[in-house]
Amino acid sequence: MQLKGKRILLGVTGSIAAYKSAHLTRLLVKEGAEVQIIMSTSALDFITPLTLATLSKNPVYHQFHDPNTGVWTNHVDLGLWADLFLVAPISANTLGKFANGLCDSLLTATYLSARCPVMVAPAMDLDMYQHPSVKQNLEKLVSFGNLILDAESGELASGLSGQGRMMEPEHIINKVLKHFKPSQAFAGKKVLITSGPTQEAIDPVRFISNHSSGKMGAAIADSFAIQGAEVHLVLGKGAIRPENPNIKIHPVVSAQEMHDKAASLHPSVDIVVFAAAVADYAPKQVASEKIKKAGEEMSIELVKNVDIALTLGKEKKHHQIHVGFALETENEEFHAKEKLSKKNFDLIVLNSMRDTGAGFQSETNKVRIFAEDGTAVNSEVLPKKEVAQLILERIKALPVKI
Ligand code: PMT
Repeated sequence: MQLKGKRILLGVTGSIAAYKSAHLTRLLVKEGAEVQIIMSTSALDFITPLTLATLSKNPVYHQFHDPNTGVWTNHVDLGLWADLFLVAPISANTLGKFANGLCDSLLTATYLSARCPVMVAPAMDLDMYQHPSVKQNLEKLVSFGNLILDAESGELASGLSGQGRMMEPEHIINKVLKHFKPSQAFAGKKVLITSGPTQEAIDPVRFISNHSSGKMGAAIADSFAIQGAEVHLVLGKGAIRPENPNIKIHPVVSAQEMHDKAASLHPSVDIVVFAAAVADYAPKQVASEKIKKAGEEMSIELVKNVDIALTLGKEKKHHQIHVGFALETENEEFHAKEKLSKKNFDLIVLNSMRDTGAGFQSETNKVRIFAEDGTAVNSEVLPKKEVAQLILERIKALPVKI
């Protein structure tokens, strides 16, 4: 089930090889993928939508609207839904349309709308596959960033023999699995992440804290673990836990506890990501009994907490990478860059409370990542998992250390 959770849009066009798309659908579903299928009109001459709908367990689309219900099939939605758009087989005709931006069917409109990676598996007769116009169209698709699953050699439907057979479904599945296999770029690396809120006790029943859910830190921890790192997560109370069972979780409550645990791990790690929302101040004295209601006003004297990132930044070794976060409400870029240099970070991830869908609690974030060398990368509002991947990409792009 290596494709569990992956959404694959399968395009089927008019070629005798369309019969193989039934087996391909079975293999994709068997690996756990969710499969939706779009057929070109001429594909209907080779295989029935009923076969593919039964195997994919989803309705099969081939036109912009269902003539029985009048319901519109949104090609943009299909394109956005997919993690991968796989067109197998792709005929010379559809290939020419993809290469030239023609848009006369649901399939071609979806191709133009899709934001996900596209793979195509050509199937045609010997001389067609060798024709310069077909070769040129394939080169054009490569230049668009599409991946070509080269036709295989063997006996062709015409009786001729040579290259032109659609790649066998088993071979296509291997290409798809390879495509989704996460990189192991952080194998052998030890990573420390702080995440979630800290709680600073006032008395046995009350504390000072903040709104951090730990979702951002958990997403970063999972991304590192998927890419092979040994991950240690120093986690504030009540924060979301990551999905990956290999991540070592170190539960803490206060800023001081978070500091002590992080400091004990710090000398042996390669990368630190400070995603926690740490209370800057804590009550000077923690009452041993519940504070009773008394006058109209009361005040609590606060003292500065240890700054974990600042302290560990001073101990940072040459090979270590420190990534900080900045949660700001105004003058965001200025404050983030100030923290980048003051806390000796290699990168700082700025999230602003002024951006909808960014910061505390939400499933999404919108960030700007500033590097020590002055470069910056901006994200749209993205799921926190995708923001985590972006952060890891920026870490990989850092000079020398990784
Ligand atoms: O947990 P979520 O609900 O998913 O929300 C994510 C988040 C908003 C908490 C996260 O993305 C984030 O921005 N974390 C840092 C919040 C913060 O405390 O920012 P800051 O600008 O106050 O701190 C700057 C950096 O110093 C941070 O890396 C922080 O972890 C670190 N710091 C701050 C104070 C302190 N005493 N010790 C620290 O290590």
